[in-house]
Amino acid sequence: MAGTRPPSTRWTLLLSLVILLGCLIGHGVAVKHENFKKCSQSGFCNRNRAFADDVSAKGSSWSSPYELELSSIHFKDGQLQGTILKTISAEEKVRLPLTVSFLESGAARVVVDEEKRLKGEIELRHNSRARKERYNDIEKWVIVGDLELSKAATLSPEAADGYTKIMYGPENQFQAIIRHAPFGIEFQRDGETHVQLNNKGFLNLEHWRPKVDAPEGTEGAQGDDQSTWWEETFGGNTDSKPRGPESVAMDITFPGYNHVFGIPEHADSLSLRETRGGSGNHDEPYRMYNSDVFEYELNSPMTLYGSIPLMQAHRKGSTVGVFWLNAAETWVDIVKSGSSNPLALGIGGKTDTQSHWMSESGQIDLFVFLGPTPQDITKTYGELTGYTQLPQHFAIAYHQCRWNYVTDEDVKDVDRNFDKYQIPYDVIWLDIEYTDDRKYFTWDPMTFPNPIGMEEQLDESERKLVVIIDPHIKNQDKFTISQELKSKDLATKNKDGEIYDGWCWPGSSNWVDCFNPEAIKWWISLFKYDKFKGTLSNVFIWNDMNEPSVFNGPETTMPKDNLHHGNWEHRDIHNVHGITLVNATYDALLERKKGEVRRPFILTRSYYAGAQRISAMWTGDNQATWEHLAISIPMVLNNGISGYPFAGADVGGFFHNPSKDLLTRWYQAGIWYPFFRAHAHIDTRRREPYLIAEPYRSIITQSIRLRYQLLPAWYTAFHEASVNGTPIVRPQYFVHPADEAGFAIDDQLYLADTGLLTKPVVSEGVVTTDIYLADDEKYYDYFDYTVYQGAGKRHTVPAPIEKVPILMQGGHIIPRKDRPRRSSGLMKWDPYTLVIVLDKQGEAEGTLYVDDGETFDYERGAYIHRRFNFRESTLSSEDIGSKGPKTAAYLKTMADVRVEKLVIIDPPQEWQGKTAVTVIEEGAKAASTAAMEYHGQSHGKAGYAVVKNPNTGIGNTWRIEF
Ligand code: GLC
Repeated sequence: MAGTRPPSTRWTLLLSLVILLGCLIGHGVAVKHENFKKCSQSGFCNRNRAFADDVSAKGSSWSSPYELELSSIHFKDGQLQGTILKTISAEEKVRLPLTVSFLESGAARVVVDEEKRLKGEIELRHNSRARKERYNDIEKWVIVGDLELSKAATLSPEAADGYTKIMYGPENQFQAIIRHAPFGIEFQRDGETHVQLNNKGFLNLEHWRPKVDAPEGTEGAQGDDQSTWWEETFGGNTDSKPRGPESVAMDITFPGYNHVFGIPEHADSLSLRETRGGSGNHDEPYRMYNSDVFEYELNSPMTLYGSIPLMQAHRKGSTVGVFWLNAAETWVDIVKSGSSNPLALGIGGKTDTQSHWMSESGQIDLFVFLGPTPQDITKTYGELTGYTQLPQHFAIAYHQCRWNYVTDEDVKDVDRNFDKYQIPYDVIWLDIEYTDDRKYFTWDPMTFPNPIGMEEQLDESERKLVVIIDPHIKNQDKFTISQELKSKDLATKNKDGEIYDGWCWPGSSNWVDCFNPEAIKWWISLFKYDKFKGTLSNVFIWNDMNEPSVFNGPETTMPKDNLHHGNWEHRDIHNVHGITLVNATYDALLERKKGEVRRPFILTRSYYAGAQRISAMWTGDNQATWEHLAISIPMVLNNGISGYPFAGADVGGFFHNPSKDLLTRWYQAGIWYPFFRAHAHIDTRRREPYLIAEPYRSIITQSIRLRYQLLPAWYTAFHEASVNGTPIVRPQYFVHPADEAGFAIDDQLYLADTGLLTKPVVSEGVVTTDIYLADDEKYYDYFDYTVYQGAGKRHTVPAPIEKVPILMQGGHIIPRKDRPRRSSGLMKWDPYTLVIVLDKQGEAEGTLYVDDGETFDYERGAYIHRRFNFRESTLSSEDIGSKGPKTAAYLKTMADVRVEKLVIIDPPQEWQGKTAVTVIEEGAKAASTAAMEYHGQSHGKAGYAVVKNPNTGIGNTWRIEF
């Protein structure tokens, strides 16, 4: 009987329950390591690491078996071709065609293939239908830039025996010194080596060989461990590997460089760590194998949802980069060592950073960028892979999401509440539950009976709706889209050529194969308004789960031996899979109706280089913890310097419920994500900002309003990213490339070149924060103009819960719109405020870019682009940028948009007593005056002056004399 049970047993039971609960909770927040491979469990990674160890152990007694055949070398029109011979034995040499291209852009490209596979002279196992070549089609998805060969690149006559030397790049300052035996390349700028290929001898291209079954009983006797060559099993899934081992690997050394950045996506610091163990280092290489990692862990080299194999090495005075164009599973080891480069001494770089790149299949295809500035890298890389798409204006405002808004009435109610509490937002999102039984392109008839009515309500305040469309299609005969996918043969196949079936949100599913041009056409057709019924032109798309995520697949994705269009194995294209879908969706949104051309907006979870042209990304399923908030800053920064700046993290944290403090701090940080969206898991409590108790509600409202106030600066930053690749939010090293103390700082950021510097608070209970200043300019608190000055040190800035710590660096002019509105669309015709933050010389400069925020008319000149200058007591606005046929008409529409206020920070004291300024506007009949108020400095706070309503046209040329 229960009542007679001795108390000790009850306690034991209770204790067990507590332990069990603890386990469950613990289990709930930890990534399942057993679901994802370690390097040692990934055959090719293990082999290449072991190879590197072996080579290192042998030291000078060993020589890399790759040699460039002298007689094969041929240089013409900026391109060198030749054959690398890989010596297997005295009789056997494997022929590897080499192409080194020197591009007009200043980049160099090195491609190594394998002749036998290229010619199809190999045998596939298991009667596979897979292609025999190494995957050589990735360029099609990634490269949009001109690959024009440099006419000026020349073969140097002074080449010594055993080397071929090519001079290229701007004014032939760059040199590629190709060593024949063992094969390797040194890239030099102005006579100094910056990038070395195969310097350590880790080059390894696993050539094709037939599987020879060892006579029974002798397995392993040859001493060559072939256990992962032909088949690999992980987590109960066997990869049939019809082509056998085929990895490509090489070491890339940056002599004299102590910091490397890039290769997102990892939840880690911006400055990448060493990966071969030791205190503060990782034990595992950084992995790039796009994956749906449930409850991912922090400070880890584990793979995440997207990858960009661009790495940049930075030191004082120089930034260089490499882009490893390969879409297969890739691992990168990083090791730092004392510099072997005597030239590196004296320029500050006493460390060499050595990276070891390993990909499972494909060619070696590598671009080398020689800088010398961080901007040069993002620019040249952007020329190659495309710049960020200039988004529609609404997309850079605030997005409200959760899994899920449950009915159309719910959406309308949330929409009304934002208005009631006067919190601006632009976009509300619908997660998977809006669909009828998780069939994309349908609406649940019970919960969303009237989507059009809902969209119309949103449109009344210029708001938008984003709905999720994933690449897995519910496998159900009565679902027309499923029928079409199968009957038109547009789905991804398994290794036997049958339609692949896996498990995702809808249960049994098939995947649209966007490698197939017919599938793309079909996908495009699905978004037409008459096909995707219930959508209006204010509806945009979220492509999720496109790694692809397959719940019952190996490592939660597709088997590597699955086949895509053209019989490429999934292995070859895995990392680019996500963006093939986004590309198709982009084309679909471009013209849902004939003649209606609007800039598409798509959010993607999985990505690869090139994604920036078509989408925004977010960092996936984070958690409502302070640590996740903190890591979001380096993650977003890293995306920015890797050419994909339209990035953000789920504000508030996806899993679990944030405390009010955490949520508030997350909004204060989130306003600095280029992509600013709150999102939450279906099991979390509602947390729309108006639901949070005071004073948090008001604080969050103020933060969101701050984002809206600064939207003109944000849009200008997006414009810059779209024309020259510079990140929208920038890390310390990028802005102050000569300040070594700042290179590893990744918890504070600059908004483009507005001079706005912020350090979001990412820990609990904090009331101050220390902001590091690299230079000796004056920095002013954004709100009260407190002055901070002093280079190379940290300054304590108040950061109570109600305050976002922001400083303004002297020397900038920041465009703002100060009138709070319900949405950014409603701010379109609002007047501007210019904040003029004077530097030590009493000068300042800034830019503003404006267009209709919606169409592509800006490509035909329909925009305003101004440079503001404050110099010699005069503020001027001058036109920059070229014009086009639509300029005049656009300017006319903007004629009434004026400057309503100037705030001058730290004005000269002589202004005291001044009450008016003179306004001279081009085209005006006469000069006019505007009133000015001067406020003197006090208690460490700079003085400021306010000019009320100078009333100059934002698109006009004018000057204001003080
Ligand atoms: C994935 C996404 C998440 C979304 C959920 C349901 O976990 O990362 O953002 O809410 O799927 O669609």
